[in-house]
Amino acid sequence: MTTLSERIDPIRSSIGEPDYGTPRSTSDVTVTVTINGIEHVVPEGTSIMRAAGEAGCAIPKLCATDSLQAFGSCRMCLVEVDGRRGTPASCSTPVEDGMVVRTQTPKLEKLRKGVMELYISDHPLDCLTCPANGDCELQDMAGVVGLRDVRYGQGGHSHLDAPKDSSNPYFEFDGSKCIQCSRCVRACDEIQGTLALTVEGRGFNSVISPGGLNFLSSECVSCGACVQACPTATLMEKSVIDLGIPTRTVQTTCAYCGVGCTFNAELRGDELIRMVPAKTGGANEGHSCVKGRFAWGYASHKDRVTTPMIRESITDEWKVVSFDEAITYAATKLKDIQAQHGDNSIGGVSSSRCTNEEIFVVQKMIRAAFGNNNIDTCARVCHSPTGYGLKNAFGTSAGTQDFKSVAKTDVIMVIGANPTDAHPVFASRMKKRIRAGAKLIVIDPRKIDLVESAHIKAEYHLQLQPGTNVAIVNALAHVIATEGLIDEEFVAARCDMASFNQWREFIQLPENSPEVVEAQSGVPADVIREAARMFASGLNSAIYYGLGVTEHSQGSTMVMGMANLAMATGNIGRDGVGVNPLRGQNNVQGACDMGSFPHELSGYRHVSDNSVREQFETLWDVKLLPDPGMRIPNMLDGALSGEFRAMFVHGEDIAQSDPNTKHVMAALSAMDLVIVQDLFLNETAAFAHVFFPGTSFLEKDGTFTNAERRINRVRPVMASRTGKQEWEIISDLATAMGYPMHYDNAAQIMDEIAAITPTFVGVSFEKLDREGSIQWPCNDANPQGTPIMHVETFTRGEGQFMETPFVPTDERSNRKFPLLLTTGRVLSQYNVGAQTRRTANSTWHAEDVLEIHEADAQMRGISDGQQVAITSRIGETLMKAHVTDRVPAGVVYTTFHYPLSGANVITTEFSDWATNCPEYKVTAVEIRPADSSIASASTLDDVLQRV
Ligand code: SF4
Ligand code: SF4
Ligand code: SF4
Ligand code: FES
Repeated sequence: MTTLSERIDPIRSSIGEPDYGTPRSTSDVTVTVTINGIEHVVPEGTSIMRAAGEAGCAIPKLCATDSLQAFGSCRMCLVEVDGRRGTPASCSTPVEDGMVVRTQTPKLEKLRKGVMELYISDHPLDCLTCPANGDCELQDMAGVVGLRDVRYGQGGHSHLDAPKDSSNPYFEFDGSKCIQCSRCVRACDEIQGTLALTVEGRGFNSVISPGGLNFLSSECVSCGACVQACPTATLMEKSVIDLGIPTRTVQTTCAYCGVGCTFNAELRGDELIRMVPAKTGGANEGHSCVKGRFAWGYASHKDRVTTPMIRESITDEWKVVSFDEAITYAATKLKDIQAQHGDNSIGGVSSSRCTNEEIFVVQKMIRAAFGNNNIDTCARVCHSPTGYGLKNAFGTSAGTQDFKSVAKTDVIMVIGANPTDAHPVFASRMKKRIRAGAKLIVIDPRKIDLVESAHIKAEYHLQLQPGTNVAIVNALAHVIATEGLIDEEFVAARCDMASFNQWREFIQLPENSPEVVEAQSGVPADVIREAARMFASGLNSAIYYGLGVTEHSQGSTMVMGMANLAMATGNIGRDGVGVNPLRGQNNVQGACDMGSFPHELSGYRHVSDNSVREQFETLWDVKLLPDPGMRIPNMLDGALSGEFRAMFVHGEDIAQSDPNTKHVMAALSAMDLVIVQDLFLNETAAFAHVFFPGTSFLEKDGTFTNAERRINRVRPVMASRTGKQEWEIISDLATAMGYPMHYDNAAQIMDEIAAITPTFVGVSFEKLDREGSIQWPCNDANPQGTPIMHVETFTRGEGQFMETPFVPTDERSNRKFPLLLTTGRVLSQYNVGAQTRRTANSTWHAEDVLEIHEADAQMRGISDGQQVAITSRIGETLMKAHVTDRVPAGVVYTTFHYPLSGANVITTEFSDWATNCPEYKVTAVEIRPADSSIASASTLDDVLQRV
């Protein structure tokens, strides 16, 4: 006989996660409660519903779910409590010490049946043909309470004719099935923080409304939290409607941004039906954004190439060949090039989209089989200054906190990041904390959504001129130093005093005062002063930053400037504080950890360190070079000067993502051999001679490391469409070049990483499968990983202050190029768009547009929606103009998701002084209405030809 718990939630207990009805209490105090005659000990604040569920006596429910606060509206969960009158709702009644509860009595059964009868009397009786049949809590509850017939009939006034809203590409709203439980409204408020849904009307006439005409035209950002929360078929994924409910689950990790959300991929047979964010996911705790939850269809898109291909010349047609032939062809060419032009004439780029295991094997192939250190990563073009700056200041090239930490922050400073678009699930956490009272300071040239949106308003928006971050961070520190706001105790106890004293002297210089910086940055001095006071006086103040910090000629300086600020105010080493890079790509942290930079082996150890190199040489049985290899820009420049002849490009589209596209394309064209490994024939593949097919994240076996150093498992949800894992192809290529490399599975690669990388010593697939995820360092000292870094001491011992003089970029606006262009991302698209453009996410963003202030638009005779030409001293491209006050006069902004607009056609060769990270965020441009010849261009090549 099945128990009540099993009967209540059959689908969730077979493929999903259990639902205890109300959130877990975090209290350390426990109370004892007797439920149906048996004593249970639970944390204080636990609801009767949760206590009963945990004790195996699940109580019927409809409006409750454990991702939301109790609401107490459906009256299904009534219980009897000794000494209390009536029948309280178990979801909204906390247990008390000594409480005696009965969850199942004749009286309760009668009451619940009566409630259910009323629900069913206004509900379509089409269970057998309903897409949610078998995945509907209303259906389950009707069974649980033993409802057999309904006395009221369905002839009267009802909601059975309520309309459907199919406007969203991914889910449908069928009003006829709504039971008004408000779980969707609360999910949008409490979990997502968008507040897009409301209950309109009162009593019987109340309906759930997304505002506007429909979901698509509303504020909804398609996170899907409401769909997940809905207990009926009212809000339902279209994939479930079309394909049926799933029957099994594989847990894996999203392959989009650096938040690293854990998902339960739910399948029916071998077909993926939906992605449901896992409540056990350390980074996301049951939430997701539109990309991770819905935009996975690219994995089976018709453009996907699943066979190896070769060609002699880039003007030839591709020839489909076997893996053996492609590998032999590539290896022979690589060796010939080295024989002719020297060992150093070849190199490669690893991908932050791929797994740690794949990346580790790529860099190993280059160091061991290519015989040089010419390995670089796309992190070069995003967060390399983070690695450099944080390593210098704290001793570790990574963020200091876990995401949870933001729940303890009192003052949040967001610099050069747009979390609601680029890191949406973390943004929801942040918004929750802000709505609960934390103060927000935004430093960004653009008015991002966080500056002002539903129930969120930044206390200060420092709307600085692009390129003046360092001036601003210095001015903030100047105020703190000159107004006695330094946490002297923390600095004395934790930091290197010589460097601090030198920094203090520097930062107090008049050139760093808000009054001087006002002229440079455009931010009023009094706003800088007030923001600095707020940051310094918060009990816990934290900095979150993005590419708006790193992608500058002073990116590394700015990272060190933020580290100075955090140390000077004592905001390092505990919950709620820290310096936190919001990493762009899913595994950019991992790519750096795995030794993808030309100067560092895994674990950020310099190649010139003899003892480190010897460990690798012993393990790999090969001699390694002690000198750093070439960075991506060096390889490209080398190609144009003839020294660098061949490149292995792993899962990157450098022809679209790297700055100064013309230069990149010219360099690629100049090479004798370009090998691309990818899902699609991307822009870079146009210059390739060998194409190895990649595997999508749904086929990969391995790990990703997110922005909080969390190592998450990536499990194959389906068989590889190429028949191989990417690390197999790479190993075979290394072997064909004369360096034997073989692994039986990805777990073996992780074992090798753990054996040679001090921060990964305790990591294995077995442990990850057991623990769920681990934040490195994970070693003997921290066997369970390290959520918060630098708690007692900094990794480097004492925190190092660095002088950070502001040096304006050489990229300046002038009479010819009077506007400053800055770039970013939009929620629905991801990076160069190779994945998201091949999904219905293009519904929201079908092309890149140029945001321009009304004053600048008027001056140039540009109207909203008009096609414009954007010219920098590097090149010219086209986009539609969007006239807006999101950007100030003098600044324009665009995204870089579409090859046709090719924003990097116009970005310059300037880069960070320390790491060569390109200065994407500052390009002097002029805008004019497009002439017809350019406006009719239909491909990026076309644009390049015509400009
Ligand atoms: S999909 Fe997300 S944003 Fe849209 S209504 Fe539902 S919860 Fe709100
Ligand atoms: S749409 Fe679903 S979650 Fe929202 S009120 Fe209706 S039944 Fe409840
Ligand atoms: S894109 Fe980022 S925030 Fe969205 S689901 Fe994936 S990992 Fe999470
Ligand atoms: S589940 Fe408790 S009142 Fe609805």
